Amino acid sequence: SAATVSLANARRVADVPARLFGSFVEHLGRCVYGGIYEPDHPTADADGFRQDVLDLVKELGVTCVRYPGGNFVSNYNWEDGTGPRDQRPVRRDLAWHTTETNQMGIDDFYRWSQKSGTEIMLAVNMGTRGLKAALDELEYVNGTAGTELADRRVKNGIEEPMDVKMWCIGNEMDGHWQVGHMSPDEYAAAVDRVAHAMKLAEPALELVACGSSSAHMPTFGEWERKVLTKAYHDVDFVSAHAYYHDHGYRTHDTIEMQDFLASAEDMNYFINTVADEADAAKAINHGSKDIAISFDEWGVWYQGRWNEQETAWAKSKNGLHHGAWPTAPHQLEDIYSAADAVVEGSLMITLLKHCDRVRSASRAQLVNVIAPIMAEPNGGAAWKQTIFYPFAEAAHYAHGDVFAPVVESPTVTTKSYGDVAAIDAVVTWDAATRSGLLLAVNRDLDAAHDVTVSLAGLPGADGAIAVTHAQVLHDDDPYRTNTADEPNAVTPADLAVSTAADGTLTFTLPAVAWTAVRFT
Ligand code: AHR
Repeated sequence: SAATVSLANARRVADVPARLFGSFVEHLGRCVYGGIYEPDHPTADADGFRQDVLDLVKELGVTCVRYPGGNFVSNYNWEDGTGPRDQRPVRRDLAWHTTETNQMGIDDFYRWSQKSGTEIMLAVNMGTRGLKAALDELEYVNGTAGTELADRRVKNGIEEPMDVKMWCIGNEMDGHWQVGHMSPDEYAAAVDRVAHAMKLAEPALELVACGSSSAHMPTFGEWERKVLTKAYHDVDFVSAHAYYHDHGYRTHDTIEMQDFLASAEDMNYFINTVADEADAAKAINHGSKDIAISFDEWGVWYQGRWNEQETAWAKSKNGLHHGAWPTAPHQLEDIYSAADAVVEGSLMITLLKHCDRVRSASRAQLVNVIAPIMAEPNGGAAWKQTIFYPFAEAAHYAHGDVFAPVVESPTVTTKSYGDVAAIDAVVTWDAATRSGLLLAVNRDLDAAHDVTVSLAGLPGADGAIAVTHAQVLHDDDPYRTNTADEPNAVTPADLAVSTAADGTLTFTLPAVAWTAVRFT
C-alpha cells in the first residue's frame, strides 16, 4: 500500500530552533561520574573529562545541555560543587538514594560545555531551597567581578561570567516523588516570586516554569493554567516532560508494540494542550508574548526495567537509614532496540512539526542513563545506541525552515490512539543553501509502505531535486539492540530512492522504520 507526502500545500511551521537538539545531564547513576567525568579513564583529559565521550557528544550534534537535574536538583546545593575538589562535601542524594561526591559541579560543567561546544541550561533547586539560593547562584554564574559571589567564581578559576541565559525554576514540582513537591497554587506563587527577582537581576534571562511531568498527571492542564496565569509576565517557557516505552516488551506483545510505535500521538496531544493553556494565560493577562514550550525531558525510558535491574539495590534502600547509598551506581541504563530508535525518530518529527511553539527541547539523558551514548567502565570504550542515529541526523541536517507536509497514509489501529497514519514525515528546507532534509517513519508493525514525496512546493526549489544521502534504520527483528560487544548490530543502511524531474521521490519503507533523505 502507498502513502503520499506532499509539499504542495505544506504549512511553513517556523525556523528550526538550534535549542531543539538539546540534551540533559543529571547527577544520576553514571551519567556524570563514569560518563562525562572519569579522571582515571585512559582517554580522560586534564579536567578529567572522557575524550571518547566528548567525541561522541559532538558527533551526536547536541546544541544545549540541561544540568544538573532532574529530580536531583531538588535537594542540591550548587555551592557544594565549587571550589577545591578535596574540600567539597559528600552528601546523600534523596532523589536517587545515592552518595553525591560533588567532584563535578557548575564550574566543571562550564569547562565541559566549552569543550563540547554546547550551551548550558541550568536548573535551580525549588525543593529544599528557593529564591535566595537561586539569586546567589545567578550572581555566581553570571555576575561581573566585583561582588562577593562573582568574585568567588573568579577565585575558583572562571574569570568571565558564564552567561547562562536559560534557567529552569525547579524540576517536576507537580510530582509526588519530587523533594519538596507543591500544589499548583503553591508552585504558581513560588515561581512567580523567583522569576520576578531573577529578571530584576537580568531582564534578558529566559526562564522556564515547571509544567506537568506528563500529560497524565492528575493536575495536568490546571497546573499550566494556574502557573502561567500567575507568572505570565516573568516566564518565557513552560516545560513538558514525556517518556514512552513498550509495555509489552517482556512478552513481545504485538498490540503493545503497535501502541508504542504511535507514542508521538501522545506527545502531539501534550503539546497542543499546553499551548492552549499558555494562550489562555496570555489572554487573561492581556499579554502580547506567547509562552513557548521547553520539552526538556523526552525519550524512551523503560521504567519497569530499571526496577528489575536494580532489584538488590532497590530492596536494600527499603531498610530505613541502614539502606545502601552507592556512589554512581548503574541506574536507568536502558539498552535500546531498533523499534526504540524508530519511536525516537518519530518524536523528533513531532517536535519539529511543533517548533513554532516548542522552541527548546532536551532529549533525556546524554550518557549511560537512558542515553544515546554508553561509556563502559574500567577503561572500556564508549559506543552508540540505536537511538543515537535519528537524533544525530536531525541535529546536523535539519536547517532553515520546517514544513509540515500533507501526508496521506494507510492507517494502523492502536489500543490508545485509535486509527493513526502509518507514515509520518516532516521536511526542513534551507533556502539560502538550497539544502533540505526529509525525515519519515513507518509506524506500522506489520507492513511495508511505498512512499511518494512531492517536494515541488518548497519555496525556491522548483525543478529537479538531487538526493545527496538517503538512509533507513530498520531491523527485521525490531527488538534487536546494540551492545558493548556488538555496537554496530543496528545501524542505518542506504535507502534506494528514485527521483523524477518534477521533484518527486519514491521509496519503500519496511515495517518499523525511520528514514532520512538529504536533498539539494
Ligand atoms: O530523567 C530521569 C528523571 O525523569 C528526571 O530526574 C526527572 O525529572 C524525571 O522524572
